[in-house]
Amino acid sequence: MKNENILKHKTKIHKEDRENLLKQKGCVLWFTGLSGSGKSTIASKIEYNLHKMEKLTYLMDGDNIRLGLNIDLDFSPESRNENIRRIGEVSLLFADCGIITLVSFISPYRAMRNSVREKIGQSFIEIFVKADINICRQRDPKGLYLKADKGEIDEFTGISAPYEEPLKPEIVLDTEKMSVDESVEKVIDYLKKGYFI
Ligand SMILES: Nc1ncnc2c1ncn2[C@@H]1O[C@H](COP(=O)(O)OP(=O)(O)O)[C@@H](O)[C@H]1O
Ligand SMILES: [Mg+2]
Repeated sequence: MKNENILKHKTKIHKEDRENLLKQKGCVLWFTGLSGSGKSTIASKIEYNLHKMEKLTYLMDGDNIRLGLNIDLDFSPESRNENIRRIGEVSLLFADCGIITLVSFISPYRAMRNSVREKIGQSFIEIFVKADINICRQRDPKGLYLKADKGEIDEFTGISAPYEEPLKPEIVLDTEKMSVDESVEKVIDYLKKGYFI
């Protein structure tokens, strides 16, 4: 085994110490849903509102991370798994810092999201950003459906690659029925009720 000589180092300062400093609980708000469902729009507004409430946050957005940390990955099933595995590890570190971490990735595979859930435990909050594919296609904020429908994008989630809906997400945001502000409020209420903030 290549890591047989690696032992975990015990640190003097723990998650709770950092949380006491920040007066908040570190957690991962994991937004999942089709492209165009509203993940980035909703997550960035939540982050903005939390920041105004003097909470320390960090938003990791799929597109941005794919331009940096995960620039070596494509959209094959293996790469999608590795994409999520790395983001799961990074978001665990951020939550351990005491930060309210918002993760906005399509993250189409249930098994992958569940393995992140297992790793992060109680601080993992799965948020299903729900919208029918036809609604996403109409919104098409980045013009990607137009391209995918013309066959110009391979392995596009919902068209030529699968999306597996969460079975038991902590929060569902039905964006066909709820406005952006209603979704934002629902998530912030959840954080208050769970004493994360
Ligand atoms: N109720 C709603 N909730 C969220 N987004 C909405 C809603 N109604 C319309 N939209 C629009 O849908 C688009 C969602 O795009 P985006 O947030 O980039 O999606 P994703 O990050 O999931 O790919 C935006 O243009 C947004 O303004
Ligand atoms: Mg997005």
